[in-house]
Amino acid sequence: MPRTIIPKRAKLYVAAVISAAVLALVLSTQLDPQLEVGAPPLGPVLTFLFVGLFLELAEHHLAVSATGSIAFIIFLAAALVFGPTWGAAITAASFIGAHLLNRRPLLKTGFNVSQYTLSVLLGSGIYLGLRGEVPPSSLDAALLPFGAMVVTFFAVNSLAVSGVVALSEGRAFREVWRRNTWGLVAYDVVASSIALAIAVLYSRFGAFAVAGVVGPVLFLRHIYMVNLQLQSTNHEMLDLMVKSIEARDPYTSGHSQRVAALGRLLARELGLGFGDIDRIATAALLHDVGKMYEEFAPLLRKESQLSPEEYQLMRSHPIRSAELVGTISTLRGYVERAVRHHHEHYDGTGYPDGLARTDIPIAARIIMVADTVDAMTSHRPYRRALPYDRVTSELSKYAGQQFDPVVVRAFHSSSQIRLLVANNQSDSGITTEPAATPVVRLA
Ligand SMILES: [Fe+2]
Repeated sequence: MPRTIIPKRAKLYVAAVISAAVLALVLSTQLDPQLEVGAPPLGPVLTFLFVGLFLELAEHHLAVSATGSIAFIIFLAAALVFGPTWGAAITAASFIGAHLLNRRPLLKTGFNVSQYTLSVLLGSGIYLGLRGEVPPSSLDAALLPFGAMVVTFFAVNSLAVSGVVALSEGRAFREVWRRNTWGLVAYDVVASSIALAIAVLYSRFGAFAVAGVVGPVLFLRHIYMVNLQLQSTNHEMLDLMVKSIEARDPYTSGHSQRVAALGRLLARELGLGFGDIDRIATAALLHDVGKMYEEFAPLLRKESQLSPEEYQLMRSHPIRSAELVGTISTLRGYVERAVRHHHEHYDGTGYPDGLARTDIPIAARIIMVADTVDAMTSHRPYRRALPYDRVTSELSKYAGQQFDPVVVRAFHSSSQIRLLVANNQSDSGITTEPAATPVVRLA
């Protein structure tokens, strides 16, 4: 198995997080009022510890990457029931047990245990600071301090994780944080409210309540995971279909995947919602799928310029693509419209419907830019790929005519897009020899 090389600054960062967790734990043993009450009964402590351990291990076997573990619900509940220090101890013990059983690397284990312990300690410290009751006897009284506890927990957790990812992969912190946190916030907030329910039920009915709540949660979690798996299979099927169509033409191979990746980044840079970003990436992936019809095959193979009639026929490909996309019920509407209008120009001179400005769906305006950028940065037999600076100047030149100026601005302002375009250029087999025969292709 290849070893991952971790940069020195990432190791220093991990060491700092581990030190902060140890320091917080020492401080907690001095300040935690629950410790004066005495040690909690062993049975309930072990129940929380083993349920936490079980959830961590279950997560490992499900292995769907889009979400984090739900063991945090138990860790938050443990801190609510036993106070910060015991909550942190249960968190650390569950994590160490799960990581050892899963044979995770030592550095990863140290970091994860520390950042989770730190998140629990700071979160429950805030809870106590806001006069939260340990254990909470009612939902009403605990709601406000618990809300602050959850915000603190996720703030520390996501900042710590994004920090180490940014340093390890050499990426901008803000982008990593947005990518890892965005879209999961609502899920995490809803899931964490279960911790309060567990704590209140525990104070009324004892440790059995923990198992009683965890069972249904795991079941719902399973359904959610199956759903995610289905979605990812659908995406992979679409990918496979597009790849098999593009495999016939070496010059467009990988084009749709690159347009989808760029479209996704542009949509994110424009601040669009999680669902829209996904739909735009799907539309970008499928934007030229109608070219698989036999009527376009001779035009795509033709090496000389298209005749006016052929050109006119080629202009019908967005309509054919949209018709095909519309046969899949989940893609009707938003994705279908984005595909149909991906050759509309901002000033109304495009096709097939001559739409202008905001009458063109934002998804189509994004695909127009992503599609053109990929065409400019890919090798063609008749010209070399254009450098990034030339691409930006071309986009600026035609902003307001072919392109939506807002989308062009988003392109200019994202460092991640600059990186992606540079990578695409190095992957596209650019040669310095201009070919002799021009080939006219519509994107
Ligand atoms: Fe097209």
